[in-house]
Amino acid sequence: MRIDLYFTPSQTDELALRDKSVVVIDVLRASTTIIAALGNGAREVIPVATVESAVKISGSLGGDQTLLGGERNGKMVEGFHLGNSPAEYTGERVKGKVVIFSTTNGSQAMVKARYARELLICGFVNVSAVAESLRQSPRDFIIICSGNNGGFSLEDSVCAGMLIAKVVADDPQGLSDGAIAGRSLYRTHGKNLLKMMRMSEHGRYLEDIGFGDDLKLCAGVDTIPILPQLESNVIKVRREGEKRDEHSVTT
Ligand code: MLT
Repeated sequence: MRIDLYFTPSQTDELALRDKSVVVIDVLRASTTIIAALGNGAREVIPVATVESAVKISGSLGGDQTLLGGERNGKMVEGFHLGNSPAEYTGERVKGKVVIFSTTNGSQAMVKARYARELLICGFVNVSAVAESLRQSPRDFIIICSGNNGGFSLEDSVCAGMLIAKVVADDPQGLSDGAIAGRSLYRTHGKNLLKMMRMSEHGRYLEDIGFGDDLKLCAGVDTIPILPQLESNVIKVRREGEKRDEHSVTT
């Protein structure tokens, strides 16, 4: 098994991911929010790169079953129904709904990785579920950290390191240098995830703009043990025993 870790999406291009198993991480907060939405019964989440495409897709899907969610600069986009706080995605708001979702880094990374053969969404809140899936049928995989405005993100990298540690423990075989570095970061910063997030650049920014409570939700390990998978541009929960299909891309 080979495990690669890209600390930012710019370390790869979309065509290079074709036929690969990919895990996308955006701990603060896109992955965590998507996992919360699906955990609370949203039918599906459609990640899109731009606010304009989100509005266009919602116009074409229409109806009261569709919600627009996401952020720019951490705050809800004008005209959207929901921002990017996992706390907003309650069962009351999202059960049975399709969420069209656009954020600064996370949804962009997911769109970039959409040609992957298999694409899983991971945060601390479901890290063991993702690890279990990768352990059960061992395969090469690439972890992409969504990063912070094109740069390195501490919390994504620590989460990637935790995932790697759960899949291969101490074994260095098959790990890229990035994967070894991620696992070391997890060993250094993984003992107190909330402290690590409060120290991180994006964590400090979220606290400054009033979303400090989100850090606690995003630091919860295995609080939402589901396996979200992007297939045909739509993220849904993969059920136990469901087969990993190649997905057709429609954009
Ligand atoms: C993103 O995708 O850039 C983040 O989820 C930003 C945020 O914390 O809202």
